[in-house]
Amino acid sequence: MEGREAAPKASGLEVGDGVASEEKAYMDCNAAITGWGWYCPSQVLTNQDIEKLVDTDDAWIQSRTGIRERRIAGPGETTSSMSISAARQALEEAELAASDLDLIICTTTTPDHLLPATACLIQHHLGADRAAAFDLNAACSGFLYGLATASQFIQGGGAKRILLVAGETLTRFVNWEDRSTCILFGDGAAAVVLEATTQSAGVLSTVLGSRGDVEQMLSIEAGGSARPASTDTIAEKAHCIRMHGSEVFKLAVRSMAQSAQEALAKAGLSARDLRVVIPHQANQRIITATQGVLGLSNDQMFINIDRFGNTGSSSIPIALCDFMQTNSLDVGDHLLTVAFGGGLTWGAAVLRWADIAAIKRELHDGLRHGHKLARSA
Ligand code: ACO
Repeated sequence: MEGREAAPKASGLEVGDGVASEEKAYMDCNAAITGWGWYCPSQVLTNQDIEKLVDTDDAWIQSRTGIRERRIAGPGETTSSMSISAARQALEEAELAASDLDLIICTTTTPDHLLPATACLIQHHLGADRAAAFDLNAACSGFLYGLATASQFIQGGGAKRILLVAGETLTRFVNWEDRSTCILFGDGAAAVVLEATTQSAGVLSTVLGSRGDVEQMLSIEAGGSARPASTDTIAEKAHCIRMHGSEVFKLAVRSMAQSAQEALAKAGLSARDLRVVIPHQANQRIITATQGVLGLSNDQMFINIDRFGNTGSSSIPIALCDFMQTNSLDVGDHLLTVAFGGGLTWGAAVLRWADIAAIKRELHDGLRHGHKLARSA
């Protein structure tokens, strides 16, 4: 599935009252990131700690995955609590109040509950009283699916300010006796604010895909309607992640490289136009293989898997926030994000970094023209 390219310049922004009542005047805007924030638990689990749990060693884990350590949610930390912290930071960066949001999308495979949606808990705790909210589960590709969805809400005129937050507490679904999976996963959350802009910037292209026929390659079998929780499912550890790692590995490289190439072509760009590539941090070898196929240089790649492991759908926005802590993006810089995950699912997106200060001015101008936007001070 392909998203459309950046829309041409539209006439000025106006302000509506949430997703249901948006007006046509907002159509043909582009979706640009104007805020970002992240939260990772302070508790660190190193490879040496895992050596005490299963028959493995630091050298094997580092050479096969690139992971040295990962963060583990502590008591009281949940997908929603981490997401709320990340979201507050993102709103502050965007200089928006929660009440400015039209929509909250939470990408997660590890929600607080099956019901209600984690996005609703986030909406309540932020005080985003105008926002619609829903969860989106596309496993580790969730952020890309969320970006495509948010971007199309904005391009279609259905929303102007969206919080896209990815939160995962994967370690609560890990079988700590299974050495082939327990070494991989970590917890954390990260959020971006996407705003409508008339600039020729923001999300330029998205490509999404899926293959449900290989669903058994990566799954959490029990706890849903097909196999509700029972003493048997608990005894079998069927509520934990199960994976056929080497098969997932091969499909991951193929789907990441292909979707990245398609997203670049759709945006009319090539690999050398990219300032930075932020891939899903699942395995250093998967990232290196994808980098090789795309012909990217080392300094175009941003990798932090060594410190955080695989944080599912949070991994790309966590890496984006980590990148922004020590680097900066200039207006017009191009960014590629690419992921694969359970399902199987995959996706890629190309973004052009917007003039964020101008977007803020644009909205303030809207205020001066009598629109009812309430931007926080
Ligand atoms: N320590 C030591 N040995 C191990 C470990 C370990 N932690 N885990 C597996 N091994 C052994 C296996 O038992 C096997 O031994 P054998 O040859 O005696 O049978 C050997 O290592 C090779 O096993 P493979 O599974 O072939 O190892 P591989 O090189 O494929 O690496 C890994 C395993 C790291 C899991 C890799 O396949 C991988 O990263 N796959 C992709 C995983 C992934 O990214 N999943 C996405 C999740 S995203 C989401 O949606 C949640």
